[in-house]
Amino acid sequence: MKSNQSNIKIAKKYLNKNTCIAIPTETVYGLAANAYSYKAVKKIFKLKKRPSSNPLIVHYSNIFDLKKDCLINKDFLKLYKKFCPGPITFVLKLKIDSKISTLVTNKKKTLAVRFPKHKILKDLLKILDYPLAAPSANISTRVSAVSASDVKEDFGKKISFILNGGKSKIGLESTIIDLSKSPKILRLGGLEVSKIEKVLNKRLKININPKKKVSPGQYKLHYSPGIPLRMNIKKPKKYEAYLLIKKRRINYSNFFYLSKKNDLTEAAKNLYSLLRKIKIKKYKSIAVEKIRNIGIGQSINDRLKRASKF
Ligand code: TXA
Ligand code: MG
Repeated sequence: MKSNQSNIKIAKKYLNKNTCIAIPTETVYGLAANAYSYKAVKKIFKLKKRPSSNPLIVHYSNIFDLKKDCLINKDFLKLYKKFCPGPITFVLKLKIDSKISTLVTNKKKTLAVRFPKHKILKDLLKILDYPLAAPSANISTRVSAVSASDVKEDFGKKISFILNGGKSKIGLESTIIDLSKSPKILRLGGLEVSKIEKVLNKRLKININPKKKVSPGQYKLHYSPGIPLRMNIKKPKKYEAYLLIKKRRINYSNFFYLSKKNDLTEAAKNLYSLLRKIKIKKYKSIAVEKIRNIGIGQSINDRLKRASKF
């Protein structure tokens, strides 16, 4: 459904009936349901075939509502003021009297929360009486969906309502920072870590590949395109799809451009849709040109590294 005001009201009706719907966000599409309802959240896990041990991110419209469920702290306020709404997720301590369903957190004492920036989603959150639990709208272990048609490709008729908000602007999931104890990055994503460090005025621990997994997005096999992928490749094999970041003088039909001008933001936006496209075109493997490991390039390389473990 196109995202206009009347469709936002229909979305609300579905959600009020404990149905799970797909929503656009600036990072990737989400599979959303009422975070206060056990029955609604259960449907997310079932649809995604997601293990219940993997907790969900809850999406809020404002800090006032968030405070009903979580304890906030100084670092949170600094980052909230600077980056929200935007592509950052905070892990905070859950309040004892919070109404969040125990299924969302897998009975953990912490909750991952975020304030999405997409206009349509903000409008929807504003008219709801509850926050939305929403994982990325893809089948578990596959690359995230960045458009309504990606969602349809993964779920088909299993999902009754997709709010179409166009292609996701950022194209990578949010950056996750744990603020429930001393600050730690748990997932690289749409917001550069150096920008977060600047605001907090300290170097952050990056715990994206821990021995004990606290966030399943940390598992190596999490963002798989479903076919083998090789990184830092100067010359692809003939039968391989080749993902490039700079324009070549001579082009072949197996060339796919993340960007033609070495623009990392543009590359992040195109990454998941190109991985899907290559798979649909029935290539058996993917080679990727070297991508600068700075800024958002670190998040791209993180996803490629995990994808290469197929
Ligand atoms: O950009 C995004 O964050 C997207 C959009 C839809 O908002 N959502 C997203 O959700 O990427 P998902 O479920 O695909 O990834 C959420 C990650 C998982 O790796 C999960 O384990 C972690 O967040 N997570 C959730 N609650 C947590 C908690 N309490 N402590 C640590 N990690 C947590
Ligand atoms: Mg995901």
